[in-house]
Amino acid sequence: MSIDAVLARLDADLPAATERLFELLRIPSISTDPAYAPDCRKAAEWLVADLKSMGVDAGLRETPGHPMVVGHVDGDGPHVLFYGHYDVQPVDPLELWDREPFDPELQDSEKGKVIRARGASDDKGQLMTFVEACRAYHAETGRMPCRITFFFEGEEESGSPSLVPFLEENAEELRADVALICDTGLFDSRAPAIVTMLRGLLGEQITVKGPSKDLHSGMYGGPSRNPIRVLTKILGNLHDDQGRVTVPGFYDGVPELDPEMKAQWDALGFDHSAFLGDVGLSEPAGERDRTALEMIWSRPTGEINGIWGGYTGAGFKTVLPAEAHAKVSFRLVGDQDPHAIRESFRAWVQEQLPPDCTAEFHGHGNSQASVMATSHPAFEQARTALSEEWPEPAAYVGSGGSIPVAGHFKKILGTDAMLIGFAKDDDALHSPNEKYDLESFHRGARSWARILDAFDWS
Ligand code: BES
Ligand code: MN
Ligand code: MN
Repeated sequence: MSIDAVLARLDADLPAATERLFELLRIPSISTDPAYAPDCRKAAEWLVADLKSMGVDAGLRETPGHPMVVGHVDGDGPHVLFYGHYDVQPVDPLELWDREPFDPELQDSEKGKVIRARGASDDKGQLMTFVEACRAYHAETGRMPCRITFFFEGEEESGSPSLVPFLEENAEELRADVALICDTGLFDSRAPAIVTMLRGLLGEQITVKGPSKDLHSGMYGGPSRNPIRVLTKILGNLHDDQGRVTVPGFYDGVPELDPEMKAQWDALGFDHSAFLGDVGLSEPAGERDRTALEMIWSRPTGEINGIWGGYTGAGFKTVLPAEAHAKVSFRLVGDQDPHAIRESFRAWVQEQLPPDCTAEFHGHGNSQASVMATSHPAFEQARTALSEEWPEPAAYVGSGGSIPVAGHFKKILGTDAMLIGFAKDDDALHSPNEKYDLESFHRGARSWARILDAFDWS
C-alpha cells in the first residue's frame, strides 16, 4: 500500500474533518471553572464516540477531576501512546473576541483560511490532526499503521491535578514504545518542528499582610506599613540589572547551552526583530548576553503574572490596604529543582519582610524541565516524514512553553516522548480570537499519517 492513497483521502475528507473539529470546538470545556464540568465530560464523551467509530476500543475513565479518555487499537507497527488535551483556557476578556469563542467559523485571512474558536490550536485542533490521520489510514487500508493507545486529558490547562495518580494507577496499560504529544508549534509557516527541550514551570501565589484591616491612607499612611509597597519592593528585587533572577540557588542545575545545539539554532535563521516587532516591541529585555531564542528555549525566567490589592475599581479610594497579592511563575531548565526553588523563593521573600508584615504562599503546580531522547529512531523517522510533507525540512527546536506530561511519561511509564505540533506564534493561544490555520490542521493530519506509516524500529 502506498501512503499516497491515505493522503488523498485526507485531502478529499478535509471539509468533513473540519466539521468534526467544529463539533468538538462547540463544547465549552473550560477545565478551570467548575461551572463547565458537564461540558468537559461532554467533550470527553464526544471523543470516546469518535474513537469508537473508527474501531478503537475507547472509554471514559473517571478521576476526582475531569475524566480521561483512553483508547486502544491494534496495528502493524510499533506501539505508540498519543496524548492531547481536550480542555481549554477561559475566554475572558470576552469583549476582545470578534465572535463567540465556542461558535467556530472558517474565516479568510491575509495568510489563508483559519479556524477561529477557543481551543482551535490549543489543543483540540491539534489532537484531531492525529485522530484524522488514523481515521483516514483505517478507512483506506482497514488497519492502523501502528498499535496505538490514545490518551486524552481534560485538566491540562488547570494544572493536571489527576494526571500523576492516573498514570501511576494505569502505568501497565499506558506504557508504549514512544509517546507522541501534539501540543506545540511549527518552527515557522514553512518548516515544522520537533521539540527536543521543554521548560519546567513553578507557580507561586503570595499574600503579604500588614495592618489588621483596611485603613484611611490619610489617617494612617506613613506610620503604617502598606502591604502593596512591601510586596512591590520585594518583587522589584526579583531581577538584577543584568536581567538575572536573584533568588539564591536559582541557577543551580542550569546547564550552558551545548555549542553544537547553539550553532544549529543560529543556523535556523530565526527572525529576532519580527519576533518582538509582531507584538509591538523593539528592544530585547531579559538577560543581557543572550539572544531571544536562547532565552526562550534554554534559559530559566521569573515572571510576575498578576498583582492586585487595595482599590482597583472605578473612581478613586484613598485606602491603605490590609493585604497585597501577586502570582509569580518561574520557567525552569536543565536540572533546576522546582521544590528547592520554591523553598528558596519563600525564604527569600520572608527575609525581606519588614516588621509587622507576614507572607502566605500557595503553590500552583511545579514541573521539571525535560530533554527528549533524540537518539530514539522515532525522531529521525519523524523528521524525514515531516520534511516530505512541508515546504522546508523539520527543525529540532526548544520550546518556551511547558508540557509537564512529557516528563511524567518518562518518569512514571518509562516512555520517551516526542513533541510535534502545528500551532503558529500568531494563533493567539490562551488569548482572545484564538485560531488554527486550516493548513496546519490539514498538513498536520497528513504529517501524522506519514509519520505513523514510517515508524519501524523492530
Ligand atoms: N500547549 C501549551 C504549551 C505550549 C504552547 C507549548 C505553545 C509550546 C508552544 C499548553 O497547553 C500550556 O498552555 N501549558 C502551560 C503550562 C500548563 C502546566 C498550564 C504553559 O506553558 O504556560
Ligand atoms: Mn496545550
Ligand atoms: Mn495551553
